[in-house]
Amino acid sequence: MLALTDFSARLIAWQRIHGRHDLPWQNTRDAYRIWLSEIMLQQTQVTTVIPYYARFLERFPTVTALADAPIDDVMALWAGLGYYSRARNLHRCAQVVAHEHGGEFPRTVDELAELPGIGRSTAAAIASFAFGARATILDGNVKRVLARVFGVEGFPGEKRVENAMWTLAESLLPDAADKNEVTAYTQGLMDLGATLCVRGRPDCARCPFAADCVANVEGRQRELPAARPKKTVPTRKTWMLVLKDGDSILLEKRPPTGIWGGLWSLPEAADEAALAAVAHDNGCDADLQRLAPFSHTFTHFKLDIEPRLGEMRGAPPEAADARTVWAPLSRIDSFGLPAPVRKLLDALTGTLL
Ligand code: ADE
Repeated sequence: MLALTDFSARLIAWQRIHGRHDLPWQNTRDAYRIWLSEIMLQQTQVTTVIPYYARFLERFPTVTALADAPIDDVMALWAGLGYYSRARNLHRCAQVVAHEHGGEFPRTVDELAELPGIGRSTAAAIASFAFGARATILDGNVKRVLARVFGVEGFPGEKRVENAMWTLAESLLPDAADKNEVTAYTQGLMDLGATLCVRGRPDCARCPFAADCVANVEGRQRELPAARPKKTVPTRKTWMLVLKDGDSILLEKRPPTGIWGGLWSLPEAADEAALAAVAHDNGCDADLQRLAPFSHTFTHFKLDIEPRLGEMRGAPPEAADARTVWAPLSRIDSFGLPAPVRKLLDALTGTLL
């Protein structure tokens, strides 16, 4: 690990000249205004937040005004910012502050972190911006800065890596002598991550840590921080029957639960022989023709699909039961088909169908 003894001093010096100083939630120690901005900025970009922030403050100038408002008004004003649990927590938090803390936000990180919607990093941001507290933030941007500058290996979403980063971040905090230093430091971490040490193309030439940064020195900006490890999902395989009678295809209603629950789909079987039996049961004794296999990825598994084409010779039997139907290709859109099945039929239409 890099031994950078003057990390905070260099960051503060950089922030004072090159950082952001005129965002609407800066140049105030009003905890209400700072809290509101931090909640809005949790998952939303600065440029999107700014007009919402202005409207909120106009409508709810104090935490008590927000606490007393009907939740519907809060939700309406939040509409468009996304992640709506933030708005519900915002309202609940305002009520706790108004009714249990006499309308004043508590001043310590631990007390702030107990309030609805305020995690450890947001609590630290509020404490340092509003009260000049010596508290470290660790959001996504800061994780990226630390991973690069100090060469922290591993996916930061993993608990072990995250814990190491909290320890590192705490060790880097400046001395608490001057509240404005803590504020500039916290803002500097945010500014560096948002303006130079960005995810796509970091502007290392302008970075105060360029000469020491592990990622820059080793040319590993793209590898740090490490990406989320790819989930290896299990694979299942299924055989699907495209059974054609003139211009119609046999569809089967899927059971109400499980994948594609309740949709119309192609009849399936667990192997080649079982699929031939399905074809036979539906009046097709001809050999099935092999079609190009394809796969579809669900959240929890990958489905490898082996399609087979069968052509009816002679009249098909009546659809065996209410779960099967001969669907005219011209009306196939009126059946709710799973996307990959739809794609398969589209690809075959005009050639084999
Ligand atoms: N993102 C989170 N908090 C922020 C702040 N105070 N200024 C700019 N971007 C932020």
